[in-house]
Amino acid sequence: MIRTLDDLEAEGAALGVRVDINSPLAEGTLADDARLRAHVDTVDELCRRDGRVVLLAHQGRPGGEEFADLSSHAARLDELLAAPVSYCDATFGAAARDHIADLDPGEAVLLENTRFYSEEYMSFEPAAAAETHLVSKLAPALDAYVNDAFAAAHRKQPSIVGFPTALPAYAGRVMERELEMLGSIEESPEPRVYVLGGAKVDDAIGVARSVLERGLADAVLTAGVAGNAFLLADGVSLGAASAGVVNERSHGAVKAAGDLLDDFSHRIYVPRDVAVERDGERAELGLDDMPAESPAMDIGARTLAAYADILEDAGTAVLNGPPGVFEDDRFAFGTRELYQAATRAETSIVGGGDTAAAMRRLDVEGFDHVSTGGGAALRMLSGETLPGVEALRG
Ligand code: 3PG
Repeated sequence: MIRTLDDLEAEGAALGVRVDINSPLAEGTLADDARLRAHVDTVDELCRRDGRVVLLAHQGRPGGEEFADLSSHAARLDELLAAPVSYCDATFGAAARDHIADLDPGEAVLLENTRFYSEEYMSFEPAAAAETHLVSKLAPALDAYVNDAFAAAHRKQPSIVGFPTALPAYAGRVMERELEMLGSIEESPEPRVYVLGGAKVDDAIGVARSVLERGLADAVLTAGVAGNAFLLADGVSLGAASAGVVNERSHGAVKAAGDLLDDFSHRIYVPRDVAVERDGERAELGLDDMPAESPAMDIGARTLAAYADILEDAGTAVLNGPPGVFEDDRFAFGTRELYQAATRAETSIVGGGDTAAAMRRLDVEGFDHVSTGGGAALRMLSGETLPGVEALRG
């Protein structure tokens, strides 16, 4: 059983709260606050209940462009939350522990990017994670640990799997809701239709295999670069440009798509037409009109009609990866219309990351659940367990 905030004695307690506010940056500062807003309920509730909230988070990956300190995140959290939020540019040393000791009930502090310490970018089993510097130095300054970072729960990093060994551990409100919506996919209404698109072709094919083998999916509708890989595997000559995009993303994708088609051809649907750029305009081509000189950027109207028909009768629609290059208005049609069609399923769930960003940009509303997680949501939707969630079970 996983304990939630309903089981926690917050008053006066120093609460380590792991959040996932890993966000797009522009010139080193926060460019999108969607992930911060997701945690407002958890943090405000704990502050209202007179907890002393110590926020732990990562931003980017070592060496990456988005690897930055959390000062702009703290400033934005201070604006978003009812409670005051300070920033501490240390994570577990004496300065951090002093800052925690000085926190009054109802106040919050955001500690520095956990990934500034190399241990936080390594994978550990929970007992070993509890021995790391981050956990062994910080846990004594805390009374309890709350994991609200669903989006990072697929990582075996100390701040995710180590604290539950050292402290009483609880799921925050974001984590609780994600587990409620994604944790029981095998019980969600049937037929279950997965729409798998996006540019992360290996991820899409991996999810397709997993949900088909586990009997979770009645139909898999393919689109995006993944859809093009399935078309190539099916013997459609899309043209060198589309094949180049697929191979650039993954050398093994066409073979993996072909193997999947051999095993589950009756459950996998491939596009019937695609949209390409011709003379600067969108042009839709049927499969008989191929090959095309430019790459396939979207599904066409015939594919949309066929997929929308299947979604119309879906008990559960799961969307992961946009079906087209939605950032370009000429190729947003497939993404917008297919997402809209998916909202008509009895239950509709959007995996996070690019998919949630597309939904916001195209103003599509009406889903039952939009996950905060990218990789974490994908794993849950494939029926896998997450180390961060297992650690909370104790
Ligand atoms: C995410 O953005 O998916 C999470 O914050 C995890 O980040 P990571 O992929 O760098 O571990």
